Amino acid sequence: MDARAARAYLKDRRNVLLVAYDGPAAVGFLRGTQLGRLDSSRGQMFLYEIGVLPVARRRGFGRRLVEALLRYCRDRGFQEVFVLTDPRNTAAAGLYRSTGARPETRADRMFVYRLRSTGLAGRRPGSGRPATRNLISRSSDSSRQGRRRDRGGPASTPVGP
Ligand SMILES: CC(C)(COP(=O)(O)OP(=O)(O)OC[C@H]1O[C@@H](n2cnc3c(N)ncnc32)[C@H](O)[C@@H]1OP(=O)(O)O)[C@@H](O)C(=O)NCCC(=O)NCCS
Repeated sequence: MDARAARAYLKDRRNVLLVAYDGPAAVGFLRGTQLGRLDSSRGQMFLYEIGVLPVARRRGFGRRLVEALLRYCRDRGFQEVFVLTDPRNTAAAGLYRSTGARPETRADRMFVYRLRSTGLAGRRPGSGRPATRNLISRSSDSSRQGRRRDRGGPASTPVGP
């Protein structure tokens, strides 16, 4: 990661960055951007990129990153999160399906999570301050058993501009 580019990215409050940790080691990340809309005042999040280090795959980090993003968006009244993928990427498609996304196109190129707001934010998306914050998610519990115990996902520590 280029530190300068990352700082500039985090300055834009529409951008979200989540990092998954296995103890002190960063093992995965997700980034997304809130898009402006013409048809609704409710937010729309584009999950632009997600990656977990090969050594840390199939241990629930990808799922926790997605779930953290979904919580973040629900709490802010977003209407949906969408992601584009290569239909041959079975790991990505499996991850999106197993976390509740539905394919929007026949060839599984686009997956959409339709969200119901938790109303926690207490403000209308699009009004007042920008709805997004930049997050670092930390998770030290990497075991599969731990994942079940910790269904709520990683604690998120807001950082940012
Ligand atoms: C896609 C990716 C982020 C998944 O991360 P991960 O931490 O391994 O995923 P998880 O362990 O949380 O898996 C969650 C679910 O996704 C599905 N899944 C994950 N990897 C899978 C694979 N290789 N094949 C099929 N399904 C898979 C499963 O349903 C899995 O649940 P289960 O383990 O209970 O069966 C990871 O494989 C990766 O970094 N790939 C390279 C980058 C990439 O392709 N990113 C997506 C496009 S930008």
